[in-house]
Amino acid sequence: MKKKILVTGGTGYIGSHTVVELINAGYHPVIIDNLSNSDIKVLEQIRQITGVTPEFYEIDLCDKLRFNAFMEHQQDIAGVIHFAAFKAVGESVEQPLKYYDNNFGSLINVLQCFAQRQVAFVFSSSCTVYGQPDVLPVSEDAPIKKAESPYGNTKQVAEEILKDVARTADNYQIVSLRYFNPVGAHASALIGELPRGVPQNLVPFITQSASGKRGPLTVFGRDYNTPDGSCIRDFIHVVDLAKAHVAALKYLEEQKEVKYDVFNIGTGNGYSVLEAINAFNKTTGEKLIFKTGERRAGDIEKVWGDVSKAARLLSWKATLGIDEMMRSAWAWEKYLKATELQDA
Ligand code: WQD
Repeated sequence: MKKKILVTGGTGYIGSHTVVELINAGYHPVIIDNLSNSDIKVLEQIRQITGVTPEFYEIDLCDKLRFNAFMEHQQDIAGVIHFAAFKAVGESVEQPLKYYDNNFGSLINVLQCFAQRQVAFVFSSSCTVYGQPDVLPVSEDAPIKKAESPYGNTKQVAEEILKDVARTADNYQIVSLRYFNPVGAHASALIGELPRGVPQNLVPFITQSASGKRGPLTVFGRDYNTPDGSCIRDFIHVVDLAKAHVAALKYLEEQKEVKYDVFNIGTGNGYSVLEAINAFNKTTGEKLIFKTGERRAGDIEKVWGDVSKAARLLSWKATLGIDEMMRSAWAWEKYLKATELQDA
């Protein structure tokens, strides 16, 4: 019998890639998603990649009654990967209650639903919890800085909630994965990121700008204290990131004594915004037009992760570099342009 894993937000960007890796690893993912920031067509794309149409339910996790009724019929869930959350930093500053209500409401409802059941729980956290670290690469025991946005705050507080739950109830085993900057798309170019409106994140803006869907990229600030003056990030390929979730589940299956743990998920290498643009140009043969603009409020100057803990305990390591991140992001953009997923 394949182990059933509930994947909340499983039609989203990271969720869909993780569903593929779960299927590849012999699990039976059960997706719930309210489709607020994803498209139902992703299920057919996953079928084309894996040969399996994943089990899917359109449910809003904040609808506690409906979610609980659904879970009555799902007694054999062995694990949960909880992606479902709002994630736009700028929007969270404008509409904090929307973020607190959705991101905490859904988390608490899932946790309460498993109050009487044994469960392995993997949570999507973010390197945003570190703010600007004092020491680089930043490791998991670095201090948590005051969040710059309500979005960042939901990740910090969610980690606290999870720690409290793991401390007080024996049935949960919980891992928080602190993602660095997820980019790229599946090698098949059948799934990838589907940003709504103007992308706020760097790589989707680069690919949309190069494809002519947007104007020139603005590089936000070239006067930072970095070698080329632009910010530095630890970009992580979304397929490597997806595999980290499978590794986290296996870790919890094998290490029954683990109650709560946290891991950085990145490559451990920092690339500047200008280096990312160069990598895009080099791997795609495009010549991206960009201009320099003001610093963006709330941006961190430089961050990259110490990823040795994940290597040691999860036996997981990123295998795909910046070139493959850019190549796959570009292949996905071209696929979108050629198909009806474009306006999803
Ligand atoms: C990367 C760099 C920008 C767009 C955010 C969230 C984080 C995480 C991932 C998500 C920065 C620069 C960007 C552009 C630019 N969470 N940039 N021009 O800010 O590191 O992280 O997304 O769910 O919590 O904060 O990622 O891709 O927005 O920016 O110059 O048009 O690219 O200033 O230096 P960021 P990003």
